[in-house]
Amino acid sequence: MFKSKIKWIKKSENEALILIALDGTFGSLPGQFFMMKSGDFPVIPRPFSVYFEDEIRGETLFLLKPRGLLTEEALSWQIGHELKLKGPLGNPIPVIEGANLVAGGSGYAPLHFYGSKYGYKNFYLGTTSKEEADFLNNLPNLKITCGPLVVTERFFQDNNEGAVIACGPTPMLQHLSEQYHGGSVYVSIEERMACGTGMCEGCAVKLKSGEIKFVCKDGPLFDGKEVDWQWLT
Ligand SMILES: Cc1cc2nc3c(=O)[nH]c(=O)nc-3n(C[C@H](O)[C@H](O)[C@H](O)COP(=O)(O)OP(=O)(O)OC[C@H]3O[C@@H](n4cnc5c(N)ncnc54)[C@H](O)[C@@H]3O)c2cc1C
Ligand code: FES
Repeated sequence: MFKSKIKWIKKSENEALILIALDGTFGSLPGQFFMMKSGDFPVIPRPFSVYFEDEIRGETLFLLKPRGLLTEEALSWQIGHELKLKGPLGNPIPVIEGANLVAGGSGYAPLHFYGSKYGYKNFYLGTTSKEEADFLNNLPNLKITCGPLVVTERFFQDNNEGAVIACGPTPMLQHLSEQYHGGSVYVSIEERMACGTGMCEGCAVKLKSGEIKFVCKDGPLFDGKEVDWQWLT
């Protein structure tokens, strides 16, 4: 693992999302992630997707959603706080010309990086509050749902066609994979991880073919139509 310090930190008004910029760039591509540990805080490293790598400013950004031990501790982080990192890990998202993007919550992170770098046809983002929606409304023509209208329903209402790349809660990825017939569905899966490098077998995903794959080593992007969702959920 290597060390980096927080250069700046921003929180959404309701503290439901945290954006941190780390000092340095590490050659990451959209879809890749880092295992992250906070100083001596006693939890094993957790995986976080790169939100953006800014080569001009020399910063790497991550979007964290407070929901557990590390991400709730992150609410107290300040500029200069030291993090330990391993990465970039995982396979980059391949460039798919004119792909639609669908993100839910912190699933916005890898797709924000992808969309900023390669562009998109339509970009749908599901949030749970107006504060989150305002905080993340930073790419052109984002179609943001907030609250009860599920982001996938908004996506289907627009009769989209062509490939879709999605990241977010597992039920959202499953719904999209099973109900979308306008093109390929690629899903970035956020399974629990321990090692991040294919050693612990903690992030297994079963395919309909019966094959077992690992999110950290073989993913995090999978063909949603090949995933055995019943096994995963
Ligand atoms: C490739 C990848 C990329 C990711 N990118 C991001 C990102 O950019 N931003 C982001 O916010 N998150 C991201 N995640 C998800 C994030 O890594 C997890 O949510 C992580 O667990 C958060 O750590 P934590 O210590 O804050 O929460 P944890 O303490 O790990 O808890 C997280 C959730 O899991 C539940 N939980 C805790 N222990 C267990 C258990 N034993 N069994 C079942 N449930 C349990 C908790 O109740 C809580 O709801 C990513 C995950 C992957 C795999
Ligand atoms: S996290 Fe250990 S095998 Fe994927």
